Amino acid sequence: MLIERRKELRKQKRHGFRKAGIMIRKAVEKLIGNQPMSKEDFLEILSGYGDRAWTELLREEAVKVRKRHYGLKVFTRGLIEFTNYCKNNCYYCGIRKGNSHAVRYRLTEEEILGCCEEGHRLGFRTFVLQGGEDPFYTDEKMVGIIRKIKETYPDCALTLSLGEKSYESYRLFREAGADRYLLRHETADEAHYRLLHPLSMSLAHRRQCLYDLKALGYQTGAGMMTGSPGQTMETLAEDLMFLQELQPEMAGVGPFIPHHDTCFAGEPAGSVELTLYLLSVIRLLLPRVLLPATTALGTLDPLGREKGLAAGANVVMPNLSPVRDRKKYELYDNKICTGEESAQCLECLERRIEAAGYEMVSERGDF
Ligand code: 5AD
Ligand code: FES
Repeated sequence: MLIERRKELRKQKRHGFRKAGIMIRKAVEKLIGNQPMSKEDFLEILSGYGDRAWTELLREEAVKVRKRHYGLKVFTRGLIEFTNYCKNNCYYCGIRKGNSHAVRYRLTEEEILGCCEEGHRLGFRTFVLQGGEDPFYTDEKMVGIIRKIKETYPDCALTLSLGEKSYESYRLFREAGADRYLLRHETADEAHYRLLHPLSMSLAHRRQCLYDLKALGYQTGAGMMTGSPGQTMETLAEDLMFLQELQPEMAGVGPFIPHHDTCFAGEPAGSVELTLYLLSVIRLLLPRVLLPATTALGTLDPLGREKGLAAGANVVMPNLSPVRDRKKYELYDNKICTGEESAQCLECLERRIEAAGYEMVSERGDF
């Protein structure tokens, strides 16, 4: 009797596995075939995380897709972190307003232009102006800086990453010559968004900003951290649904890393492996997307950025900020490349990229 029952249970389990296997296979086929995905499809895809065979298959397909669109090219973006003042208080971020231990700095227009000059000399053809939400830089000041950079370097693309602004501000910046805008959505799940941000911020506004940016003709970047506190496969499936809906030209995905002066100081860091898995999924979901192997990935794993490229990424963003201030732009602990001169950093990255079998290029690398 007992033996019969055990046999029956084993049969049911086998059937269950087979059924699960069929479901995930279907979802993977849809993703590889670039068909519209449902949230359930994404949940199936995410259930394959941790399974060697699915991970390997998605990685191989992602690399094929990237190769088809971009060959072996890796694009560089020179990152200028021009202010670490921020009026927001995102719970995960080291430069949040509430962190009284953060040593604050701002670059002058001349210093920003100095970074561009050095960057241009080194071969960069995209500059990324990134900062906290700092009211010191009024629209008028930003427009002046954007005009000056575009006038001096008409061969370069200019990316902004200044957080949430009004449609009107985004319009002014676009008219002044800005080409691209990075604004990670952070999470597409309401409850998860609330866990990560104070009440003064809202997911609805974040999404609106991203749609405004798209409407204004910016090449737009969204994205999220992996392993942020409270993240689940459900919330990740929603992130993927949102990326599918928004169709961003760029996507930034890196692991969450705790910062010692935040509410999440004691939380575990995100997983490198899950980040790599997501990079492959996003490459397949958005075949032509410009996808960086992030500094956060390189911080958690000495070969993180190389692994990111091997998973489907095609962008790196070395730092052009003055070495004097680098450590102060501390979103999370132990950030790499804060002691190196820009030229050293670029050389190091170039060596790494070429050793990994790719070709670092100095094109603008538009979508
Ligand atoms: N760990 C990893 N990434 C972080 N960011 C902010 N804080 C952290 C952290 N603790 C990311 C956010 C933001 C981007 C500029 O940096 O996703 O959008
Ligand atoms: Fe910055 Fe290696 S990339 S030191």
